[in-house]
Order: sequence, then C-alpha cells, then structure tokens
Amino acid sequence: MTDSTLATGLNPDAPAGVPGRFVTFEGIDGAGKTSHLDELEKRWRAAGRDVVRTREPGGTPLAESLRELVLHQPMDPLTETLLVFAARRDHLHHVIEPALQRGAWVLCDRFTDATFAYQGGGRGFDLSVLSTLETWVQQGRQPDLTLVFDVDPAIAAQRLSAARSPDRFEAQDRAFFERVRAGYLARMQATPARFAVIDAARTPDEVALQVEAVMAQRGWW
Ligand code: TYD
Repeated sequence: MTDSTLATGLNPDAPAGVPGRFVTFEGIDGAGKTSHLDELEKRWRAAGRDVVRTREPGGTPLAESLRELVLHQPMDPLTETLLVFAARRDHLHHVIEPALQRGAWVLCDRFTDATFAYQGGGRGFDLSVLSTLETWVQQGRQPDLTLVFDVDPAIAAQRLSAARSPDRFEAQDRAFFERVRAGYLARMQATPARFAVIDAARTPDEVALQVEAVMAQRGWW
C-alpha cells in the first residue's frame, strides 16, 4: 500500500485491464428504473458474473444511515451535498473500489450524476463546488456506462402518485423535476460517451428492449 492509498482509500497501483465494470442507472423519481436494474442484475448473474448490486445514497451501513437523513430530515443544500458525498466516499472505499479491483461487475442505482442533477439542477447548488467534491471523493473514478431513464416529469409524477408516502425529493413540484431533468441533460452533454439515454416514457417491455440493446452493443448483456 502506498501513502496515497492510505490517504484516499483508493488504490492507484491497481493492475490495469481488470475486467470489472461499473454501470449506473439514473433518472428523475418515477422514471421506473428499478425493475430494469433487477432484470440486468438477474441477467449478469445468469451469465456467471461476480455482481455487486448497490445504490446511492447508501450501500454501506454508514451511507445507509446518511441516506435516511438526506431523504427525511430538513436541511440546507450545502449540508445535503456534503452528506451525499460523505456517503459516496464511504461507499466507494468499502464497496465499489474493492469490487472493481477484484473484477466484479458493479451495478449502482444512482451515483454522482444524481448529485449534479438534484443538488445542482434541482436545488441550484454551485456546480463548481460539486466538481471539486467529485474530484476529492472519486479520485478519477467514474462509471464505465450510465443509463439515463429520461421521461417527462408530468408522466413521472403520475407514476409516483400511486406510490408510497413521498420522501423529501419525491415531494418536490414539477418545476423541481424539470430542473433535475435539465441537470441530467447538461451532465450528459459534458461527457456524452459515458451515457446512454433510455426513453422511459415507453412501456416497460419497450424500455427493457432499449436497455438490452445498449448492453448488448457493448457485449455486456
Ligand atoms: P431513489 O434512488 O429514487 O430510491 P427509491 O426508488 O427507493 O425512492 O431515491 C434516492 C433519492 O435521492 C432520489 O430522489 C434522488 C436523491 N439523490 C440526490 O438528491 N442526490 C444524490 O447524489 C443521490 C445519489 C440521490
């Protein structure tokens, strides 16, 4: 272990070419990504892969405790941002990096693009501060591929109205989710090669076919 590993918890000396994959799913609340995460996880397991299914905020006991606070306690946008990055740091250190180092396929429900979309777009928090925190916490780690489930917030709201009692994000109005959606689109424009957009307004079967096509194109289905 180098000093830098001790300082960051990440391993800069990891062998290159380890065949791990890091795939994230994103989208506004009500976009309907969960069943497709389930399907992809099942598919990867059936192919005999070492799969780590996880989520953000969350994925470790500490990060899950922070998730409870972020989703349910009133707080200002800076506190919210620091808590999601604190959760992310713990999650990367204890779960994601070790999994990728051993060659596992990591499937994560949301990651930093959600921070840019929700805290940056939705809350209007300073994007340059988010970029600084991203650099500190991730040390260059980014998903290999991010699927963005894109849907009109009006459609997403209809889907959510049938769901359980809303958390602090689900309770936001249409204008908030318009800004979150725009936040995702801006983030995609910055590094388009990492993203695939899924038209999440379609039926579940049609959405499943889009997900399959994106993964199959990379040989990851
Ligand atoms: P979500 O992933 O939608 O889980 P569930 O399907 O159980 O509701 O909920 C997580 C919420 O947290 C979602 O509304 C987006 C929000 N969030 C942020 O605001 N910033 C972040 O960085 C992350 C990862 C999530």
